[in-house]
Amino acid sequence: RARLARTHFRSGAVHAAPASSGVAGGQKTIDDLGGPSFLTTLNWLFVKGFLPKMQQMQVEQRKIYGPLWKSKYGPLTVVNVASADLIEQVLRQEGRHPVRTDMPHWRRYRELRNQAHGPLTEMGAKWLRIRSILNPRMLKPKHVSSYASTINQVVTDFIQRVLWLGAQAGGGVMVHDVAGELYKFAFEGICSVLFENRMGCLNEEVPEETQKFIFSVGEMFRLSPLVVLFPKYMWPYLPFWKQFVQAWDYLFKVAEELVHKKMEEIQNKVDLQQSVEGAYLTHLLLSEKMSVTEILGSITELLLAGVDTTSNTISWSLYQLAQNPDVQERLYQEVSAVCPGDQLPNSDHIAQMPYLKAVIRETLRLYPVVPGNARVTVDNEIMVGDYLFPKQTLFHLCHYCVSHDESVFLNSHAFQPERWLRGTEEKSKQHPFGSVPFGFGVRACLGRRVAELEMYLLLSRLIRRFEVRPDPAGTEVKPITRTLLCPAKPINLQFLDRGAGQT
Ligand code: HEM
Repeated sequence: RARLARTHFRSGAVHAAPASSGVAGGQKTIDDLGGPSFLTTLNWLFVKGFLPKMQQMQVEQRKIYGPLWKSKYGPLTVVNVASADLIEQVLRQEGRHPVRTDMPHWRRYRELRNQAHGPLTEMGAKWLRIRSILNPRMLKPKHVSSYASTINQVVTDFIQRVLWLGAQAGGGVMVHDVAGELYKFAFEGICSVLFENRMGCLNEEVPEETQKFIFSVGEMFRLSPLVVLFPKYMWPYLPFWKQFVQAWDYLFKVAEELVHKKMEEIQNKVDLQQSVEGAYLTHLLLSEKMSVTEILGSITELLLAGVDTTSNTISWSLYQLAQNPDVQERLYQEVSAVCPGDQLPNSDHIAQMPYLKAVIRETLRLYPVVPGNARVTVDNEIMVGDYLFPKQTLFHLCHYCVSHDESVFLNSHAFQPERWLRGTEEKSKQHPFGSVPFGFGVRACLGRRVAELEMYLLLSRLIRRFEVRPDPAGTEVKPITRTLLCPAKPINLQFLDRGAGQT
C-alpha cells in the first residue's frame, strides 16, 4: 500500500476525488478515455500494416493518445497502459487471483475436447490450486539448480550441432536460422526437465513429430489474434477455426504421448520394485495431487510456454553480442574467469556471473518476448491515473513501449547490459516496472527460474567456445509480434570455434 501511495504521488494521480477529476459532474471513467474505434483499429492493423508489428503500434499510439487509451478489438474493449507508473498501479491492484485475459478461444478448445485447463488458462481458486502444486519444483532454487546437469547435456549436444551445421553448409562457421536451431534446443531442454527424456531434436535429422509440434505451436500463435477479432458464435464458421483446433489437437497429442510413456516407465519400475524418482512429471504423477487429465492440461501448457520464449531470447542475445564485440569480450572474460577450461558451469558458477545475467536482462528489455501482457480486474473497481475502472476491465500492459521509453531508460535503443549491474547510477534510479519481462506477482511466469538457468548455461558455454560474428551479408533483423515477439526473418550468424579446450 505504501508503494501504491508513492506511485500515485509520482504520477500526480488523485484517488476518488470527483471535484478534481476535470469532468463535470464526477469521476473520470472509461467512457472519458480517448482512443481508436474498431474501424480505426482495423485500419491500423490491415491497411497501415501493424498486424505483424503490434509492438510498434503501442509506441505509435502512445504518441497520439498519451499513456492511457482505449481500443476496440471486435467485441473487446481494451484499456492500453503505457507508462511504468500506471503499469505499476494496475499490477499492484490485481487481487488474490489475478486474471491475464479470460482467453476465450483457448478455453473454448478445452471445452470442445473435454481437456483440463493448465496454469495459463485456468482462473480463480482453481488456478491458485494448480499453481500451488506446480510451483515448488519449477521455482524453488534448490530444485531448479538440480536441473543443471540435465540441461548441460542438452547444451553439449547443441554445441556439437553448431559445429556440425557450420561444417555442413556454412564454410566451417556459418549457422543459418539461429532461432530455428535454438527452438530445437529449447524444446529438447524443457522436455529433458519435464520428462527426463531426450527427444532427439538436436540429432542431424530432427524427428518428424517434433517438426510438426513446432509448426502447430506457430499456427496456434498466428491464428489466435485473428480468432479473437470475431464474436464467439462465429468461430465455428471461420475458415481458419478448423486449423486452430487442429493445431491444439496436435499439441495435446504430443503431450499425451509423453505423459503416457512416463506412466509406463514408472509402472515398469514399480513392478520391478525399483525406486522411482526423477523428472518434474514423475514427481507430479507420484504426488497424486492432480488427475492425469489435469496433469496433461498443465504439461501441454508448460511445453507451449517454455519453448519460443527461451529460444527467441537467446537468439536476440547472440544477435546483439555479434553486433557488439566489446560486450561479447567482456562476457567472455567473465565466463572464462569464473569457469575456466573444460569445467561445466553450475548454479554456483552462474551466481558469480553478474554480467551474464545483465546481458539476458538487457536482451529482455530490448526484446520482451511477451511485448504486451494483460490483466482483467475481477474483484474490485480500480483507480488508474485519475480514472476509475469498473470490474471486468481488460488492461493491456504495453511493456514493449515502456522498455523502449527514453524517459525510463537512457539510450533506450542501445544494447547496454551495464545498466543492469548493481552499484551503477542508472541501476539505482531504475523504475521497478520499466522492464518486467517475466510478469509480476503470484501470476508471474512459472518457468522463470528454469528459463533463466537454460539461458545462462547455454549462453555462457556458447560464448566460451565460440566467437560470434554477424552475418557477412550484413542483414538487419527486426522483431515482429506473433502473440510473442519473434525475429521477422532468419538470424544468420558466424560461430568461430575458439577450440575444444574451451568446453
Ligand atoms: C525467456 C523466457 C520466458 C519469458 C520472458 C517468459 C515470460 C512470461 C510472462 C511475461 C508471463 C506472464 C506473467 C504475468 O502475467 O504476470 C509468463 C507466464 C507463464 N510462463 Fe513464462 N516466460 C519464459 C519462459 C517460460 C518457460 C521456460 C516456461 C515453462 C517451463 C514458462 C511457463 C509459463 C507459464 C505456465 C505461465 C503462466 C503462469 C500463470 O498464468 O499462472 N515460461 N511467462
